[in-house]
Amino acid sequence: MDKNKMLEIQSLVRDCGQIMLNANRESILIDSKAGSANFVTEYDKKVQDALKKGLKQILPEAVFLGEEGIENTFSNKGMYLIVDPIDGTTNFIKDYHTSCISVGIINDGIKAAGVVYNPYLNEMYYAIKGEGAYLNDKRIHVSDEPLSNGIVLFGTSPYYEELNEKSFEMAFDYFKKALDIRRSGSAAIDLCSIAAGRAEVYFELRLSPWDYAAGSLIVEEAGGIVTTVEGGELCFDKTCSVLARNK
Ligand code: IPD
Ligand code: CA
Ligand code: CA
Repeated sequence: MDKNKMLEIQSLVRDCGQIMLNANRESILIDSKAGSANFVTEYDKKVQDALKKGLKQILPEAVFLGEEGIENTFSNKGMYLIVDPIDGTTNFIKDYHTSCISVGIINDGIKAAGVVYNPYLNEMYYAIKGEGAYLNDKRIHVSDEPLSNGIVLFGTSPYYEELNEKSFEMAFDYFKKALDIRRSGSAAIDLCSIAAGRAEVYFELRLSPWDYAAGSLIVEEAGGIVTTVEGGELCFDKTCSVLARNK
């Protein structure tokens, strides 16, 4: 992944962050999606449209796969842009200020680059495979803390009711072993928090590729480990669980 292209992607993503920050909060159009408490707003679609248009110019050879309206299927051949226009839509609807834009680039089945931008804190996380992970141009690393001195982040897999109980059982188990637990409402921000050494473990029992395509590379490039909860490799053609940790 070319450094100039990475800069162009960051500039595009930063501009798209303005769409989130400038949203007219008096009247946000909200639709329901499949599963429980799963929403999409007009801004998820606006950000996705802007990313699709801009990324087409930066990486014309790449296939675009965005959460809102999937037009293509993933394959291990070629370059794919796996995009979550707003990760943390429920937070966005509530004006909770914990949402981000996530763009992952997968080349021939291998994570090549990732950008996660939280416009509320103006935090731009990015990584290019083999070149380390960065937050606003400063190199970041996972922490060295043991679980007993750690914070554990988790996601509730809110759209899959059948996973609710197990999610909270696992969270309770971690709560007993760690300092405390947190639930932010954005999987991509959670992954970046592990990468930045702000927390030690993150897990969620079912996520979609756009939730982790970028953040998982950022964790790995910061020295962390990302697998499924069972210890397998993450995949980009279907949902899976995610476990990210410092060491
Ligand atoms: C969701 C968020 C949330 C996680 C869900 C995701 P969305 O993404 O990342 O933290 O718990 O599993 O689906 O729907 O807001 O893009
Ligand atoms: Ca998401
Ligand atoms: Ca989303």
